[in-house]
Amino acid sequence: MASVDAHIETHKDRFLNELLDLLRIPSVSADPKYKAEVARCAEAVQRRMAEAGLEKVEICPTAGHPIVYGEKIVDPGKPTVLVYGHYDVQPPDPLELWDSPPFEPVVKDGLIYARGSADDKGQFYMHVKAVEAMVKTGNLPCNVKMMIEGEEEVGSTNLGIFVKANKQRLAADVVLISDTSMIANDTPSINTGLRGLSYLEVEVTGPNRDLHSGVYGGAVANPINVLCDLISSLHDKDRRITIPGFYDAVRDLSDAERKELAKAPFDEKAYMKDLGVDALMGEKGYTAPERASIRPTLDVNGIWGGYIGEGAKTVLPSKASAKISMRLVPDQKSDAITQLFVDHFKKIAPPYVKVKVTPHHGGEAAVTPTDSAAYQAASKAMEETFGKKPIPTRGGGSIPIVALFEKELGLKTILLGFGLDSDNIHSPNEHYGVFNYMAGIRTIPKFFSHYAETGK
Ligand code: BES
Ligand code: MN
Ligand code: MN
Repeated sequence: MASVDAHIETHKDRFLNELLDLLRIPSVSADPKYKAEVARCAEAVQRRMAEAGLEKVEICPTAGHPIVYGEKIVDPGKPTVLVYGHYDVQPPDPLELWDSPPFEPVVKDGLIYARGSADDKGQFYMHVKAVEAMVKTGNLPCNVKMMIEGEEEVGSTNLGIFVKANKQRLAADVVLISDTSMIANDTPSINTGLRGLSYLEVEVTGPNRDLHSGVYGGAVANPINVLCDLISSLHDKDRRITIPGFYDAVRDLSDAERKELAKAPFDEKAYMKDLGVDALMGEKGYTAPERASIRPTLDVNGIWGGYIGEGAKTVLPSKASAKISMRLVPDQKSDAITQLFVDHFKKIAPPYVKVKVTPHHGGEAAVTPTDSAAYQAASKAMEETFGKKPIPTRGGGSIPIVALFEKELGLKTILLGFGLDSDNIHSPNEHYGVFNYMAGIRTIPKFFSHYAETGK
């Protein structure tokens, strides 16, 4: 391990500069106008993976953005770690709220500011550099397969197809992902769960054209008013979701499990202050960390209709729309919940409007056991880097492919994330700590060495 650590120390400036180069490529998967940039990013990732010592590194085309795959098999008798990450990023909008341009990375006060710095370029690239350090010093203790995709932020549909078609090639003993956060730099934690997702769009149509709101207002239903009524009826006064059957499959946690999770430090005052809110709200009977991790939710992600330009326009619009997402927990099934929503929303629509519901992508929740050899190896590795045993926590975000790895490849995942919730992922001024980047690069080889001894 000494020579691995020495290699990392010697090359740390280059490791940072290489990440900055990657961050300069605007690999936005959601917007077709960036398609060539996404492809260019895949090529850069391929080159870096090959330079790091991975073999058979190739760009695998899909119906959407490509997947980059490479591997290094040292001994087929040894365990195999499948590393997954994503090189695509969220759109940078709203641009005017960034203090520096999203694709011109700057390092300020120890933080790397750029879109994708934490989610997920800065995190998956730690694995490329950790592999480099292990391979170049002759210290790779087991096999590694690395798959970095370009469509995580748009639902990983094509990766799902790729995984099903490449089961042999992807055969491994555990999946290792750095795409989540920890509690704080002095409070390491390991994510042991992710929520699932159902994402839909609804459209409410009233009259067949926009109307003068004085001439017709009061007599004809306003689709925006109706949409607001419908949306607000989806929660009751205890902030429980009112869709019949929504909670049926929810696997409730035991009091002991909730007590265990409550051991993670949480400062509610600091949380509110950081977000600029004077009070919190959510499902009755649960704490804020529980509401944001082990409980399902329904949120409007976008809503539009009518006149939103300068000044005022007295109009009664013909249509109103919203994008709605539901975060799901074990054992809710994304398709089933989407169907419940569609049926319910159509049923509650009053006769004076027509509603159209269009499902988008989804994904299942996932939980990781803490008694596995892989979790123990991760826990030990974190403890060696941070000097403290990491606390297991359940995360609120979603990485849909994790459940698919389990279903299709029979593999459990270790969510070894080094980000912080305050990194502003998906927001303006996304950043990632240089400390976190380096801590990840140092921790990953430690995981490999413990897992090589105890895995399989
Ligand atoms: N890395 C995030 C997920 C995440 C972030 C999990 C922080 C836990 C803590 C991932 O890139 C992401 O943003 N996923 C999407 C889902 C996808 C289908 C668009 C999400 O959670 O909204
Ligand atoms: Mn991510
Ligand atoms: Mn993301």
